[in-house]
Amino acid sequence: MERDVIIACDFESKEKTLAFLDKFTDCKPFVKIGMELFYAEGPSIVKEIKARGHKIFLDLKLHDIPNTVKKAMAVLSKLDVDMTNLHASGTKEMMKAALEGLTRPDGTRPLLIAVTQLTSTNQESMEKDLLIKEDIADVVMHYASNAKEVGLDGVVCSPLEAQKVHDKCGKSFVTVTPGVRFADGDKGDQKRVMTPSEARKIGSDFIVVGRPITQASDPVEAYKRCCREFIGE
Ligand code: C5P
Repeated sequence: MERDVIIACDFESKEKTLAFLDKFTDCKPFVKIGMELFYAEGPSIVKEIKARGHKIFLDLKLHDIPNTVKKAMAVLSKLDVDMTNLHASGTKEMMKAALEGLTRPDGTRPLLIAVTQLTSTNQESMEKDLLIKEDIADVVMHYASNAKEVGLDGVVCSPLEAQKVHDKCGKSFVTVTPGVRFADGDKGDQKRVMTPSEARKIGSDFIVVGRPITQASDPVEAYKRCCREFIGE
């Protein structure tokens, strides 16, 4: 898998997103579209950004009964995104149905990535709210194994988990890691962070970077710095 930097376009409107992307005149970054922008603007925002030549990670984290997820994924596959995701906690049956729905008639499909446990969930909330008594690190690895077993392409995980995921699920099982900050940057609300070069050393395949690029005084330079440190270009 080729390493790449994915910019989290966490903007509330099409105007703000396109104004941001307009700054990139000599490159076409891989972008992540999340729930906020997708629910505000609908599928047309995906088509418009795709038509501009960007790769897209559509981060909608599906979780429902298998049949519903399968049908929703079939709709998403027509949007021609490059990567999308779901919750591994929806079970192996749901993940299998998602893969079926996402696969186009010609056999191609976007990469399908699983969320294991959200980083906003901790051991205490998992035990008290979800009644899961296992160690959270074991739960994350178990969900990653389930995703691998049914044929998904990888998981979203903290950079600190990427190495373990590769050890357990193989090098070609993709790790997509948020929580990336420049060594001299502001951590914001991310608690456990890594620099782009550290993320490269531990074997992340894709880093998802939002505010260090979107809020930078020169976003294009911040993106290029990220690429230099993570990909080496
Ligand atoms: O601005 P920042 O670089 O923190 O943005 C990171 C992006 O990755 C956001 O879109 C955030 O929702 C997402 N994300 C995360 N942690 C996770 C999963 C997704 O920060 N565990």
